[in-house]
Amino acid sequence: MGAPCYHLGFGREDLGEHPPVLALICGDPARADRLAGDRRWVEHRSLAAHRGLHSHLCRLPDGRPVLVGTHGMGAPSLSIVVNELISLGIRQIIRMGTCGAIQEHIHAGDLVISSGALCRQGAALDIAPRDYPAVADPFFTTALYRAALSLELPVHLGITASVDTFFEGQERSEVPHLLRRLRGITAEYRDLRLLSYEMECGTLFKMGGVYGFAAACICAVIAERMSGDEVFRQTITGAEDRAMDVVFRMLTDTTWAGGGD
Ligand code: URA
Repeated sequence: MGAPCYHLGFGREDLGEHPPVLALICGDPARADRLAGDRRWVEHRSLAAHRGLHSHLCRLPDGRPVLVGTHGMGAPSLSIVVNELISLGIRQIIRMGTCGAIQEHIHAGDLVISSGALCRQGAALDIAPRDYPAVADPFFTTALYRAALSLELPVHLGITASVDTFFEGQERSEVPHLLRRLRGITAEYRDLRLLSYEMECGTLFKMGGVYGFAAACICAVIAERMSGDEVFRQTITGAEDRAMDVVFRMLTDTTWAGGGD
């Protein structure tokens, strides 16, 4: 059946007779653990906790298995995890992350669902040409958005700036030196109607397009970048819970057949 994946630390034989096709992944291993521990799963077991990549196999009430895992920080780490997930038979990936709002009307605690990304990421250049579109799976994305609306949650659908760095690339004021080309970039992105900054979905979307899997991204807003650099730590857990509510609502909606082709 093959060796465990080098980075994830588990392999096909750990996934049982009916392996999952859907993975929910996030940057923070503690968030992956919290998501896997949600009482709405009827079953869950840990698969591995290798190199900070915590992975779990969970089961929905209708019996469907779902892989809940960690992609680490930034696009290079995500690209490694996604390659290994694909080799294990995963065909649908939802990133559940956090982001910083770059529109005044988007607030900490809200949700952003990305329809696509302005992808300013080095890892993506090893996967597709710079001009290759970074677009989310339209079926998954619409299903997530509808689920959030049905729960009456504050949700925004649009384009995200997906960049390599949290400090320089997102124009945080505490960096010792900021390149001239990055000065004013946040206001420019706001004017281009981008909703948020995060660090992985652009590469995830390009990988989805090139490798042929359905990719989507829902993020909890934890910073309001038009007014400052601060991360509002007290909003993180509540906003993550909302994102989990949306994903569970989508997965248990019997009218939804799943994304991809
Ligand atoms: N993630 C980011 O990449 N930026 C933020 O401001 C918050 C979360």
